[in-house]
Amino acid sequence: MAFKCAVVGAAGGIGQPLSLLLKNDPLVKELSVFDVIPLAAGVAADLSHINTGAKVTSHHGFDGADIRAALTGCDVVVIPAGVPRKPGMTRDDLFKINAGIIKGIAEAVADACPKAMVCVISNPVNSTVPIFAGVLKAKGCFDEKRLFGVSTLDIVRANTFVAELKGLNVTDVNVPVIGGHSGVTIVPLLSRTTPACEFTQEEAEKLTHRIQNAGTEVVEAKAGAGSATLSMAFAGARFANSVMKAMNGEDITECAYVYSSIQDGVSFFSTEISLGKEGISKINPIGKVSDFEQKNIDIATDALKANIAAGENFLSA
Ligand code: NAD
Ligand code: LMR
Repeated sequence: MAFKCAVVGAAGGIGQPLSLLLKNDPLVKELSVFDVIPLAAGVAADLSHINTGAKVTSHHGFDGADIRAALTGCDVVVIPAGVPRKPGMTRDDLFKINAGIIKGIAEAVADACPKAMVCVISNPVNSTVPIFAGVLKAKGCFDEKRLFGVSTLDIVRANTFVAELKGLNVTDVNVPVIGGHSGVTIVPLLSRTTPACEFTQEEAEKLTHRIQNAGTEVVEAKAGAGSATLSMAFAGARFANSVMKAMNGEDITECAYVYSSIQDGVSFFSTEISLGKEGISKINPIGKVSDFEQKNIDIATDALKANIAAGENFLSA
């Protein structure tokens, strides 16, 4: 079975290559391209000439009716809408603008496609996902199995950096990355790398630091022109594809930042989740970790408390 998929923020740096990858995904039967800016129509016209099966439709505009029309009938909604970082900024610095953007998109999802699988890319993910959940709760349609903060780029990066260091085939490597998606909240579980790898403490510290700061590496390299777009599009398309494969009955495991009671003291946390036909079928426990990883999990949990509270306070203000 193939699905109707929307990209919200489709004219942006992530949105365009993400839409391209989804247009090329055989599990997509219709790609609904939405952005507030009119370029969405051009992106859709461009994509519609590609001879793959997905039919491309487009909507744009600031009127709530436009986004609701784009979302109607969607099974999967992927959201890379909002402003990216510039050098010197943290992801939390984006909160002021992106919190309001995410709130509006969540209201539209609740009205137009409350049963869709929702994949939130917009930063700061640690706070935008709690905002999204809060809006859906207020609208009476929150299904915790269907809302995902996309942290896949952290896994993609960890796999790449470990493969480079250990001389492995990168497509064989899997490093679970848990916690959240910013700075110290990103916790790679190098001790659980497959295929099994040994790391010295120095290697583990250096790799962890690089994975936690990889987004900043790109922000600085782009020198004011934005943050990761191409690798994020790859990661977002992979995650959406996993969600759709699972909707078709395949057992799939991914890490994602979700509503979860797995970690004491926080209501959202990323661990490995099993995906099924109805979204999350199981949230896997953190499992065995090294002392170094446990210390990082504790640090991440403290930082996440503040990020989640910021999202919740925004809605109650
Ligand atoms: P961009 O500025 O290139 O594109 C953002 C797009 O969103 C623009 O086309 C803009 O018109 C659109 N937009 C703004 N408000 C909108 C709304 N209400 N509805 C629909 N579209 C709207 O930015 P980008 O580089 O594509 O990054 C987008 C977001 O993704 C940023 O917040 C960035 O920090 C985040 N990001 C997350 C990850 C991750 O791993 N989760 C990785 C990279 C970037
Ligand atoms: C990333 O990890 O690349 C994104 O979250 C974008 C950023 O601001 O670093």
